[in-house]
Amino acid sequence: MAFWNRRTSIDALNNLDDRHRLKRTLRWPHLVALGVGAIVGTGIYTLIGIGAGRAGPAVILAFVIAGAVCACAALCYAELATLMPAAGSAYTYTYAVGGELLAWIVGWSLILEYSVVCSAVAVGWSGYAVGFLDSIGLHLPVWLTAGPHAGGIVNLPAVVILFAVAGLLMLGTRESATVNAFLVVFKVLALLVFIVIAAKAFNGSHFTPFMPFGFGAHTDGTEVRGVMAAAAIIFFAFYGFDAVSTAAEETIDPKRDLARGIIGSMIVCTLLYMGVAAAALGAMRYEEFSASPEPLAFILRTLGSPLAATLIAAAAVIALPTVILAFMYGQSRIFFVMARDGLLPHRLGSINAHRGTPVAMILVTAIVTSLIGGIFPLAEIAELANAGTLCAFIAVAACVLALRVREPARPRVFTTPWPWVVAPFAIAGCVYLFVSLPPATRTRFFIWNALGLVVYLLYARFSSVLAKRVYQRA
Ligand code: ALA
Repeated sequence: MAFWNRRTSIDALNNLDDRHRLKRTLRWPHLVALGVGAIVGTGIYTLIGIGAGRAGPAVILAFVIAGAVCACAALCYAELATLMPAAGSAYTYTYAVGGELLAWIVGWSLILEYSVVCSAVAVGWSGYAVGFLDSIGLHLPVWLTAGPHAGGIVNLPAVVILFAVAGLLMLGTRESATVNAFLVVFKVLALLVFIVIAAKAFNGSHFTPFMPFGFGAHTDGTEVRGVMAAAAIIFFAFYGFDAVSTAAEETIDPKRDLARGIIGSMIVCTLLYMGVAAAALGAMRYEEFSASPEPLAFILRTLGSPLAATLIAAAAVIALPTVILAFMYGQSRIFFVMARDGLLPHRLGSINAHRGTPVAMILVTAIVTSLIGGIFPLAEIAELANAGTLCAFIAVAACVLALRVREPARPRVFTTPWPWVVAPFAIAGCVYLFVSLPPATRTRFFIWNALGLVVYLLYARFSSVLAKRVYQRA
């Protein structure tokens, strides 16, 4: 069988023998917590400022656009995650529907997404942590809190938090999920407090002019501007529900709980974001908070609520690591599955016998993500993560359509409503967001994938489990 035709079947995925499975320990409340834990993070806490700088008050429109695209993608994820409740998310679905080569491209993009998200959130976390320490009189020098682009040497807080989360993850899934649930509640409560306090200072005049930089993404000198440029970065705020699907294999009742976990977490977050964005823009003109590394705390402090500002900074400091946790978790599972399929070295995916977690892989992830987070600027890292995610979302929506044509009669636990509207909308929306990313981001993404293709052609193509099966039979 030629490598571009190699596929596994949906039935084979659903009948993995127990020796090759991860332990089942999670229920749907864990999954909603994992989802909200992965979704609410640097996007709403920090990128809201960068988005507002690009679009003005129309950043709220950017939230609507990115949210609508993600909602459609989430429906597609729910259908595939319940149809194929095996670890590996978009990579696994593409493996079964589109074959090994396409799956490799998606998996390689997911590795980029999951790693770079961890780095981006760590940088966002560092902004709040440094602000928090400042507010209690502990001033860290710039050379230790920013990369070279901002006059520093290394963003040390970002590096520290990445290693701390990796350590927690090595302890095991169940423990991580329980800690996660507590932190998620705290993070959401702080945003609700923000909405209540900021809403008191609401001034409708802050919304005019509504769209000062127009709709389409464009560059204005060195600045990236327009509602779509904002949407292309704000997109970061919405994803994370896909991390729920990476936990499919560890879910006790995946058929029921996965759709609940994915859609439930998406609904909670969208409502919350609309509230936070409207309250922030109403409370202060966007020009004033857009450049702050901790915009929500800055708004509250300027409004004369230092206590609430400290609370939101504390919530960010304590709870943003849940996002890193969810993505590092997802990253190690993607590696695990790709190694199980023979596309990456087995050693990378091997599970520590004592802890039941892929310890070596988590450590490698921590090292790589801290190199990126310690040095590069937030907007660039977040946009690169978005590029990888958009690629995965396009693949998932395309898989839903392909399966509707190829296997229309296969029983589905969750069916995407109006699939021929929702999935094409998800694909078109993701393509539009992708082309709204800065050209440099798109180039980096293509270079990453070109590198991936070289690795596939020189290594994975031969080490693949499907390839070995063919050789053994021959
Ligand atoms: N949605 C996640 C965040 O905003 C990645 O941090």
